[in-house]
Order: sequence, then structure tokens, then C-alpha cells
Amino acid sequence: MLSIGVLVSGGGTNLQAVIDALNSGKITNARIEVVISNNKNAYALERARNNDIEALCISPKDFDDRSHFNQALINKLDEYNLDLIVLAGCMVVLPAELIQKYRNRIINIHPSLIPSFCGKGYYGLHVHEEVLARGVRITGATVHFVDEGTDTGPIILQKAVEVKYDDTPEILQKRVMEQAEWQIMPEAIDLIANGRISVEDGKVKIAD
Ligand code: GAR
Repeated sequence: MLSIGVLVSGGGTNLQAVIDALNSGKITNARIEVVISNNKNAYALERARNNDIEALCISPKDFDDRSHFNQALINKLDEYNLDLIVLAGCMVVLPAELIQKYRNRIINIHPSLIPSFCGKGYYGLHVHEEVLARGVRITGATVHFVDEGTDTGPIILQKAVEVKYDDTPEILQKRVMEQAEWQIMPEAIDLIANGRISVEDGKVKIAD
């Protein structure tokens, strides 16, 4: 059974998609042990509690400096003996020590087709604003392993989504979530939970 910790910052619709997939059996061999938010008002925490999942807040604001926050986050995650850390709309820059410790055991969902519209400064609604500003016709979402770079780790799954002429950033964001994010995030977790993902030479191989 894959033990999962989920890091969130906001609404938690990706977390909800994972919870729903666990409940419906779309994800097998996995269990969410804990949901941690850097923001105590994140609705994602409510979603976890509504499903009897332990939910807690570790905020940089409650520590004198970043290194103390980083250590507290690592210590808390270590307590759960996690096999996988899922970043589901997590807007915190993770400490390098955590990334090293959980190499190829941290995954992130990004709202574009990496390597387009990713890297520093590209997150949330801003990604979709940039997509619309460039007149791009196809966008999508990517689930990838987290390495020391920003959105540079091995890509696990991607799904394309059409951009429409009259889209606003909000409309496009909703379509990307519905048609891509909420599908590929649970799918990636199920593949990992069932031992079908390996990383070779920085690239992901999916076993049949
Ligand atoms: C999602 O669209 C996710 O792809 C994005 O934040 C949103 C969180 O929504 N993540 C990033 O931009 C990371 N670079 P949610 O809290 O409803 O899942």
C-alpha cells in the first residue's frame, strides 16, 4: 500500500480528484496519510477533514526564518513514512534537502504542457494568461517528478486541451483542470502505486 502525503496551498480540487479516485477504486493500492497546507485557510484542508484524512498547516509565517520552516516540514513529513509526496496546487518552494531525500518520490501537477509555459513565475492563473497572450491553440497539463529545478523533473503524464478564441484565463483554467489535471493526477498516482513507473536516464518509463 503506497502511503501518500499531499501538500496543498489553496482550493484543493486536485486533492479532491485524488480522494474521489481512491474512493471509486480508480486508484488502487494507495492511501492518503496526511494533507499539509502552508496556508491555514486553504479549503483543501476542509476537503481532507471531510474525508477523515489528517489535515494540518505548517506556515512559513509561524517560523523565525525559512530554514526553521523547512526543517519543520521535513520532520513532519518524515513522521508519516511516506512513499510518495503529491504537490496538488502547492505554491511553496520545497527545500533542496527534501527533494534529495525523496528523489523520484515527489510529484507535481503543472497547468501547461511542459516545457511550455513553465519555470519561475509560471503558476496558477498566470500560466493561462500567458497562453492566451501568445495565441497558443493547444495547452494542457503535466504531472512530473520534482527535482531541484522549477518544473524540470521527469515527465510522467501529459494531456492536451484545446484553447478557444473567446477564452478568459478563468474559463481556460477550468477546462484544463476538468479535461486534464483531474484525470492525469489520479492516473499517475495509480501507475506509481502499482509499480508501473520507473525513471531511466531522467526519463519516465511506463510498464504495460
Ligand atoms: C492547479 O491548476 C495546479 O495545476 C496549479 O495550481 C492549481 C491548484 O488548484 N499548480 C501550479 O501552478 C504549480 N506550478 P487546486 O488547489 O484546486 O488543486
